[in-house]
Formats: sequence, C-alpha cells, structure tokens
Amino acid sequence: MHGGVDRGIEREEYGMKVLVAYASRHGSTRGIAERVAEVLAAAGQSVESRAVEDVDDLAGYDAFVIGGAVYMFHWLKPMSRFLRRNREVLAERPVWLFSSGPLGTEMTDAQGRDVLEVSGAKEAEEVEAAIHPCGHRMFFGAYSTGKPVGLMERFVARMPAARDAMPEGDFRDWDAIEAWAGDIARELEGSAASDAPRP
Ligand SMILES: Cc1cc2nc3c(=O)[nH]c(=O)nc-3n(C[C@H](O)[C@H](O)[C@H](O)COP(=O)(O)O)c2cc1C
Repeated sequence: MHGGVDRGIEREEYGMKVLVAYASRHGSTRGIAERVAEVLAAAGQSVESRAVEDVDDLAGYDAFVIGGAVYMFHWLKPMSRFLRRNREVLAERPVWLFSSGPLGTEMTDAQGRDVLEVSGAKEAEEVEAAIHPCGHRMFFGAYSTGKPVGLMERFVARMPAARDAMPEGDFRDWDAIEAWAGDIARELEGSAASDAPRP
C-alpha cells in the first residue's frame, strides 16, 4: 500500500476539511465512522460524517475516510458504487479505507488464519490499486438477528450452523478504532503543517 497525505490538497487556510463517509446496513459501521469523525474533530480537523448515499460532490473536501460493512465477502453496494464513481478524485486525495465485519472474539479461524485478513471484500484489492489509499483497516463488527434484512440474513438467523459462525453481539474494538483515527489525525496535522505558508 502506498500513497501519501500530500497529494492534491488545495486549500487556503490551515486545517483540512475531512469527509468520513460510510456504508452501513444495520448501523454498526456508521457507529465506527462517527467515532472516527469525533476523534478527528477533537484533534482540530473540520469533519463531516455522512452516508455514502448522501454525498454528491467531493470537491469541497481535502481528505477522506471511507468505510463499508462487508456482507458475503463484498462491501455493501453503495460503498462499491461510491468508490467506483469517485475513483479519479479519490486517487488524487489522501484516503483511508476501513471495512467492518468479523464477528466474535476469535482472532483466527479454524484454519489458523487471521480473521481480520480473510473476511474482507473481494473488490478491495482492485479499489486499492485504483486509488492507492494511505491505509485500509478491517475492524470487528456487530450483529443481531433481531431485524434481518433480505433473504440471506433471514436464512442466517434461522440456521443453527450459521448462527454459530456469526455470533450475535457488538465486537467493535473501540480502542483499535480510536488509535487508528488518532494516527490519521496526526498524519493530517503533519501534512497541513508542512503545507502551511511559512511565516
Ligand atoms: C449474512 C451476513 C453475511 C456477512 N458476511 C460477512 C463477511 O463476508 N465478512 C465479514 O467480515 N463480515 C460479514 N458479516 C458481518 C457484518 O459485516 C457485520 O455484522 C457488520 O458489523 C455489519 O455492519 P452494519 O451494521 O453497518 O450493517 C456478515 C453478516 C451477515 C448477517
């Protein structure tokens, strides 16, 4: 992964305008995005947090954090559409991606593989090659069978084997999320400082 925070930033004032955009079906990915936005705001960045469906124009933003829930090894469609539609702009700006998904407390699967590495969206590799994000993190997610959406979720809610593979609960690792957002804040701050006009 490569890229940098000094790409294509055009602004007159000190400080970045950052968009945290998310694609979430049941709200847990939105929660991660909102926490990232809070950390960035607390660090002095100017931040907006929106669902990808509600973002029309990227022109006013200097940097992006974009996160999507993963279902059946794919990002939710609005996430993929957003990334595809905006790939040229995103390739010229600092972008951090995150995915949310794995459920449970096990760090490895039955084959001993890191669940954070093997649960992601199949299209991620292609997107990374196109926009060269500064980073892409996978976070544990959250799941409840309470209000299934669509056939697959109804099926999972009824199948005991599927229920074992997808334990209910909120497994979001807020320490990891906040630490990651803190790293982004520091990178943005460093790049804004180096871009600021010299006295
Ligand atoms: C039917 C179904 C399929 C899922 N598939 C995946 C998957 O392929 N990879 C993954 O990491 N998580 C998977 N998950 C877990 C979700 O990504 C997780 O619950 C996530 O936090 C949901 O985000 P949301 O609340 O923003 O919709 C799946 C969940 C369900 C119900």
